[in-house]
Amino acid sequence: MSARLQAESLYKVFGRRPDQAVERLRAGADREELRAEGATAAVIDASFTVEPGQIFVVMGLSGSGKSTLLRMLNGLLDPTAGHVRFDGQDLTTLGDRELREVRSRKISMVFQHFALFPHRSVRENAAYGLEVQGVPRAERVRRADEALALCGLAGWEKSWPDELSGGMQQRVGLARALATDADLLLMDESFSALDPLIRRDMQDQLLELQQKLKKTIVFITHDLNEAMRLGDRIAVMRDGRIVQIGTAQDILLRPENDYVASFTQDVDRSRVLTAGELMDTSVTGDDPGCHCETATADTPFTELCAISARLSHPVSVVDEGNKLIGVVPRQRLVGFLGDEQDTTPEPCDSPRDKGGEKVIARA
Ligand SMILES: Nc1ncnc2c1ncn2[C@@H]1O[C@H](COP(=O)(O)OP(=O)(O)O)[C@@H](O)[C@H]1O
Ligand SMILES: [Mg+2]
Repeated sequence: MSARLQAESLYKVFGRRPDQAVERLRAGADREELRAEGATAAVIDASFTVEPGQIFVVMGLSGSGKSTLLRMLNGLLDPTAGHVRFDGQDLTTLGDRELREVRSRKISMVFQHFALFPHRSVRENAAYGLEVQGVPRAERVRRADEALALCGLAGWEKSWPDELSGGMQQRVGLARALATDADLLLMDESFSALDPLIRRDMQDQLLELQQKLKKTIVFITHDLNEAMRLGDRIAVMRDGRIVQIGTAQDILLRPENDYVASFTQDVDRSRVLTAGELMDTSVTGDDPGCHCETATADTPFTELCAISARLSHPVSVVDEGNKLIGVVPRQRLVGFLGDEQDTTPEPCDSPRDKGGEKVIARA
């Protein structure tokens, strides 16, 4: 499977002598040095691929370079260095006209504060991208209404934007992006201005839509929980650089540096932990080894605990062919909970499970 979207060592430097700044960054200069010289390194050496049908989340604090990165992905900003390939086409080599064409037909953007036209109906707002493309009116209306229905706005087609709540207005923005049939959706903090409950609703709606439409989505957020709910893969940005790319599990359970670890320290890990993460893979075989309840690699932690509680032996983890790929002994589940509760480091001479065995031996 070839990647739908690929960023190859992208740099964006604002301010003085950007090309020279890139050379300096490549040679190891840091962002602060450049800032002192009047150049802002907004994105530094960003590389990643997004597969068709994936939601790729870019997460980072404000100012970390997320919006700049996103704008390079649809050619709104020219990279100072590096390439963006979309469906095999290098966007950085396209002329203005070709680029506009790609942007209007294949890529849609949804912003945080979606500017609806106040003097146009909801339907006309949703149809705006199609109007830009020169689609005839009857088809525009049909596709706009379809997209509005997908976003839960059937019946609101003739309303005016100011008759809609903030969440509903944001849905119109989403509908506008969906109506154009673009395969790539770029969403910049699209839900960040919404109240928490409505925001969650929108996240659910997006996941539900994605099940049906299988778009390729790059979603930007500064919110870790949102990133984990939505992202098939997550890139964490810090000061212009991507410091880790991985699944929510990777980010939470295997942070590659202290920054990512501290960013995620307050998250309840049991939410992302699965049998695949916990199993002992030294035990495998052609069949599950028992005729009882089994788990699969993606069985979540809580469910695994429930299964384990019903069994007197380790939980067998099987693949699609019902082959044993590992086992999860109950001690592993309990041990994980112990780690979660325990924030004080263990003294070196008394490893936790040995201590546990001693207690059991005495009792
Ligand atoms: N047009 C611009 N001119 C100069 N500096 C910019 C411009 N756009 C963004 N920046 C700077 O680049 C950095 C990254 O900004 P941005 O991509 O907007 O971050 P984020 O979206 O993560 O908040 C910031 O330091 C910002 O001030
Ligand atoms: Mg931004």
